[in-house]
Amino acid sequence: MSFITELKRRRTFGIVSHPDAGKTTLTEKLLLFGGAIQIAGAVKSSKIKKHATSDFMEIERQRGISVATSVMAFPYRDLQINILDTPGHKDFAEDTFRTLTAVDSVIVVIDVAKGVEEQTEKLVEVCRMRHTPVIVFINKLDREGKDAFDLLDEVETKLKLKVTPLSWPIGMGKSFQGVYSLYEKKFIHFRPHGKQDTEEVVEIADIKDQLLDSLVGEKPHHQLLEDIHTVESVYPKFNREDYLSGKVSPVFYGSAVNNFGVRELLDCFVEIAPEPLPRETEERIVEPEEEKLSGFIFKIHANMDPKHRDRIAFFRICSGIFKRNTNYFHVRLNRQFKFSNPTSFMAAKKEVVDEAYPGDVVGLFDTGNFKIGDSLTEGELLHFKGIPRFSPEIFRYVNNADPAKFKQFAKGLDQLMDEGVAQMFIKEDNQRKIIGVVGALQFDVIQYRMEHEYSAACSYEPVNLHKACWVECTDQKKLDEFITRRKKDLARDKDGKLIFLAESAWTLKLVQENFPEIKFHMSSEF
Ligand code: G4P
Repeated sequence: MSFITELKRRRTFGIVSHPDAGKTTLTEKLLLFGGAIQIAGAVKSSKIKKHATSDFMEIERQRGISVATSVMAFPYRDLQINILDTPGHKDFAEDTFRTLTAVDSVIVVIDVAKGVEEQTEKLVEVCRMRHTPVIVFINKLDREGKDAFDLLDEVETKLKLKVTPLSWPIGMGKSFQGVYSLYEKKFIHFRPHGKQDTEEVVEIADIKDQLLDSLVGEKPHHQLLEDIHTVESVYPKFNREDYLSGKVSPVFYGSAVNNFGVRELLDCFVEIAPEPLPRETEERIVEPEEEKLSGFIFKIHANMDPKHRDRIAFFRICSGIFKRNTNYFHVRLNRQFKFSNPTSFMAAKKEVVDEAYPGDVVGLFDTGNFKIGDSLTEGELLHFKGIPRFSPEIFRYVNNADPAKFKQFAKGLDQLMDEGVAQMFIKEDNQRKIIGVVGALQFDVIQYRMEHEYSAACSYEPVNLHKACWVECTDQKKLDEFITRRKKDLARDKDGKLIFLAESAWTLKLVQENFPEIKFHMSSEF
């Protein structure tokens, strides 16, 4: 197959949801269709338990699982599908944001009873900012939930997505009878007691067909006609261009656990979802068709075996062909590297690959040379955009609790920060280290991993901070004045960028008023 054919058959996407909406179940059903797993439960049994917060064995187990299921690749029809997993736990939201930089589209799963939940709002906001095409799957129709129209309103107001339903439910909960596919003009009958085969597809040329009366009953059929009439008069007709530019999101209804509506979702997805998209760098736009290899690291995972310090860096290919045992240019380090064992991820199985194409993700063994955001090219200086760090929510001073182990402490912290577990800021006035995280669980993870992987002990001390802001100013004189006057509130991030540590929203406002020439950013990319 030619390079262009290979790249055109890639579909790389992420599934996001609020915990418990059904992301794992849907992923598993998609893998079943792709033949990537043979039995239901294969993903489920190793699913990341979101509720375990302080059990450290659980943390270790999760890390192992999340390597195995980080990327799940499988063939479907003529396509190569890559699903990038995103952590469910909110304390790892930053990890999810970064993974979203490596996908070309997203499926959002929403629980029919709960509607749009907080975490989904944040994740979709990131997708919207980047114009990532989004498909919505409303799940658990076998349970009583919110009205289908109300849910669409909720998606439009809370997620700020314009929607166009491509399937429509008939009944809900106990009276759920199936969905009518507006996309394929078919009725899919829900058979809750069937074991494997839980749906029956009935081709319907005309929705008014009396056949539907006999299948679902006269009243539900009438209701469907009314609903479809409303849908067609209120929502825009589906148009692929609008979906691809992130302007409109198609909506599907189904029940993942019953394997209902999932095939319709997948069949539509493979027809409409984007192939690998161009990527923005600070220098220029990179087109996937370009012959020279380029790509970036969006995730780093430490080895589970503490005796081996290697890590796996997840590399998303943006252009060209990635080849095993070939020298590539590590832009930040200005050095050539070659990889003898790059791995692909076919479901939970890892395999060495000889070649990989745009849209693919390969795992590169790393002994500490990679940081999140690093790029590999064939010599060109490219810095990929869109891997921002956001201001953390919770801060603590971190101290070395065992002076004899200073080296281990420094190395451990450095490597964990490269992995993106948390962010570290070094204060300008006294060089003290402050760690900032999104969720408190990350403090425990750091302490545990420092001890078990680096034989280092760390302790924390409270520090009263509200936000860490990236500082920008074009007027060097004003900046110098600001630095002199606010030194005690300043720090540097891991790239040496200047950070203002705001004690409260009020202090931030005051400083903004006093230094109008200085810009304070909540993310590292501005
Ligand atoms: P997540 O990855 O988004 O966190 O959700 P997950 O798939 O783990 O699903 C959360 C719970 O919702 C699971 O139940 C799962 O079985 C259930 N679920 C998923 N899809 C559907 C659906 O279509 N209908 C219904 N009724 N339930 C659904 P659990 O009790 O937490 O786990 P389990 O004991 O079933 O494994």
